[in-house]
Amino acid sequence: ARAQIGVTGLAVMGRNLARNLARNGFVVAVHNRSAGRMHSLVAEHGDEGEFVGSETLADFVASLERPRKVIVMVKAGGPTDAVIDELVPLLDEGDIVIDAGNAHFPDTRRREAALKAEGLHFVGTGVSGGEEGALLGPSIMPGGSRESYEWLGPILEKISAKVDGVPCCTYVGPDGAGHFVKMVHNGIEYADMQLIAEAYDLLKQGLGATAQEIGEIFARWNTGDLESFLIEITAEVLAHTDAATGAAFVDVVLDQAEQKGTGRWTVQNGLDLGVPITGIAEATFARALSGSVPQRGAAAGALPAHAGTWDVQDREAFVEDVRLALYASKVVAYSQGFDQIAAASAEYGWDIDRGAMARIWRGGCIIRARFLNRITEAYERDAHLPLLLADEYFTEAVGQGVQAWRRVVSQAALNGVPTPAFSSSLAYYDGVRAERLPANLIQAQRDFFGAHTYRRTDREGTFHTGWSTDRAEVEA
Ligand code: 6PG
Repeated sequence: ARAQIGVTGLAVMGRNLARNLARNGFVVAVHNRSAGRMHSLVAEHGDEGEFVGSETLADFVASLERPRKVIVMVKAGGPTDAVIDELVPLLDEGDIVIDAGNAHFPDTRRREAALKAEGLHFVGTGVSGGEEGALLGPSIMPGGSRESYEWLGPILEKISAKVDGVPCCTYVGPDGAGHFVKMVHNGIEYADMQLIAEAYDLLKQGLGATAQEIGEIFARWNTGDLESFLIEITAEVLAHTDAATGAAFVDVVLDQAEQKGTGRWTVQNGLDLGVPITGIAEATFARALSGSVPQRGAAAGALPAHAGTWDVQDREAFVEDVRLALYASKVVAYSQGFDQIAAASAEYGWDIDRGAMARIWRGGCIIRARFLNRITEAYERDAHLPLLLADEYFTEAVGQGVQAWRRVVSQAALNGVPTPAFSSSLAYYDGVRAERLPANLIQAQRDFFGAHTYRRTDREGTFHTGWSTDRAEVEA
């Protein structure tokens, strides 16, 4: 047994992770259910490092030094359980099974508990960065026992992306914490993408600009505070011409967004924990609306718009307004996502360091961005910060753009351009900063129809008014 780590499941992500490990000097055991993929990996990339290929799972396990470290890279759900079930009887106490797929964190918690009972470590890890990231350095978010990280951490840190020499990998927390953080990463990814799409639509509708022109604006934005992977690829996509028609590529792509489900999980969990992740939720629902074909068919041309014809006078000022509104909305989406991590950390006993999460998202992953440094700094100033938006840096940065944000959202509404994520982020901003919200009326209504009680502003206690009798107040 001489392999230091193994990968089973050699579709593109598993194959690229295995190559990344080998390129970094680790001896990598490789296995795939149908051996063809294993053989082709060794044949095509055997010169990149040292692979130990096995045709059976038993030989694969036998080729690993102990404690064995086995990365499972198969489809989330049933296929992952099937591989784990086959693997467990072949392993010995102290061995480590790593699920690097996009598993749902409750599954990871269940699997971790089951394997712990067998004396094994189970590490659910988020891996972000797509195919290229897996090969060249992803952002890695491992959960599980601390002890397993002692063994695994040095390997994962070595193959991860680096920013200023710092690895984009750290221990996240027990059991499902790693997959949870990856799930929120994906939720933020949805919000970020929706906000960028709304900015594109605003520039298109407000300026009547072409895809090419909008691409140039995004390229310019990518040199400032908004610098990020998603803005960069947006500029590239917008500049691309469709070979078949000669039209701008985006203009021939069908406007129905799909999803594999991680955004939906994030929203479901936000509802479970009662955390208002409105940016992520709007982004997820916006994808659903785009795919609501019968409804869109029934509405198009039938619902009156009564909207103006958008004719922006000062084009440069408008572009700057959209940029400021995009940045402010983006900060709201991240602030909400970090709230969700804090709430889950408390609920599930994970003790997640939010500043460290922002640090490992600076490179490798899909939401990598310059401004994540600012988030890390905010949590360095105060590890228990109750609201990222209220950190001094973000208060200032968002504050500068508030008027622009209001102009953009109101102009969009007047001109009938949907901006669900921009608008709801502004509503969240105004809601969370409000001295007094109309929730007082909701409490009074609940007490009226259901005797659900209310608290008062002037005294401690819980009260009920006898609405259907004498309307006298009693302490409940
Ligand atoms: C990543 C991505 C990756 C995947 C998304 C796509 O971090 O590398 O998030 O996990 O590309 O899950 O998600 P949808 O298909 O749901 O848009």
